[in-house]
Amino acid sequence: MNETANPDCRILVLAPFGKDGVLITGVLRQSGYAAEVIHDPRAITRCMSGSAGAAIISEEVLSDQNINAIAQSAVAQPSWSDFPLIVLTRGGASTPFSEKAMRACASMGNVTLLERPLRPATLQSTVQAALRARLRQYEIRDHLEERKRAEEELRRAHDSLESLVEQRTRALQELSLRLMRVQDSERRRIARELHDGMGQYLTAAKINLNVLASNAKNPRALAEAGKALDQAISDMRTLSYLLHPPLLDEVGFDSAARWYVEGFSERSGIEVKMNINIPIKRLPEAVELAFFRILQEALTNVHRHSGSRQVEVNLSARAKNMVLEVKDYGCGLPRDLLDRFQKDGTGTGVGLAGIRERLKELGGELMISSGESGTTLGALIPLPGPSMIDQPGPAKSSIPA
Ligand SMILES: Nc1ncnc2c1ncn2[C@@H]1O[C@H](COP(=O)(O)OP(=O)(O)OP(=O)(O)O)[C@@H](O)[C@H]1O
Ligand SMILES: [Mg+2]
Repeated sequence: MNETANPDCRILVLAPFGKDGVLITGVLRQSGYAAEVIHDPRAITRCMSGSAGAAIISEEVLSDQNINAIAQSAVAQPSWSDFPLIVLTRGGASTPFSEKAMRACASMGNVTLLERPLRPATLQSTVQAALRARLRQYEIRDHLEERKRAEEELRRAHDSLESLVEQRTRALQELSLRLMRVQDSERRRIARELHDGMGQYLTAAKINLNVLASNAKNPRALAEAGKALDQAISDMRTLSYLLHPPLLDEVGFDSAARWYVEGFSERSGIEVKMNINIPIKRLPEAVELAFFRILQEALTNVHRHSGSRQVEVNLSARAKNMVLEVKDYGCGLPRDLLDRFQKDGTGTGVGLAGIRERLKELGGELMISSGESGTTLGALIPLPGPSMIDQPGPAKSSIPA
């Protein structure tokens, strides 16, 4: 920064008595400084925070009132500023007035005393030193402002990144919900197709085979074909029911769950204890479907990951909520996986994430407690309507409400 051309480096000269003001500004201007005579001490207090380089004040101006005003402004300066004041003192012996004024100077901040009569070289070197200090202060000011700007930009970038992440997360959640809905309706459709389409053809083929069997040349081959068809019909029915059990739509969660659990137990060899208490005849369709899919996934997880030979399934009402619990006695979820999932919902497969999304869509909540002695998965869904807390159904619960 070139101090002679910079208006922030002006030298203010407050010396209203005698010719000091004119002489000082003359000397400074000759040396290339922008010096300016002022008549009001308030001009100094106004400039302390940045629009002048230094001020020269003659001692006679320092009344109590002016000293106080300057001291107050010195205290109120921004952190980077320490405005240089050069006070011209009288030469010769001190007087009580000059001593008092000098003591008071201490409160005015960065003060240098310069004794009169002034020598131009002394004046110039004092002003030069003051301006150098002031320029350093400006550098610190610029640096602080730059840092503040950078911080502000960083904050803005951080905010916009956060809102972008939020938007993307919302979009992903919507997408995964849509995918789950599509998957549900697709499963329902394929189940119906299998049952009503292929199932009917297979049954018709079986009937015809029975007719042919009465006068067959190779009854053994026909009997084997019949067995194969029976197996195909049975497998197709199981597949269709697993995709979407018609019981769920026709009779409700209770029957569909019992049917599913029975088959699961047979297929996996895992013993399942069930305790289902639904205080109303039917739960809303979306709730029944969600509980059924959650039960399927939870039991599949027990079979695939836990190593447990026993499971308990409880469905009970708590106040306005229905709570499905699936409790096993296996190895438990890996600690870090559980921590991550509970912290921000990441780190698992599609299964647990899907359960959480389903529950969230219905205003519900997924609770998992897991340790070395097993895992309990709790799926809570609030129901519309009055509280069901007094309704029958003392289901055993291991997750606090
Ligand atoms: N009952 C359980 N006992 C022990 N670990 C489990 C249990 N349930 C889940 N886990 C652990 O949590 C992980 C995530 O489960 P999640 O159902 O989300 O995914 P996955 O079963 O691995 O795959 P998929 O996407 O097919 O469901 C599992 O890989 C397993 O390590
Ligand atoms: Mg799974």
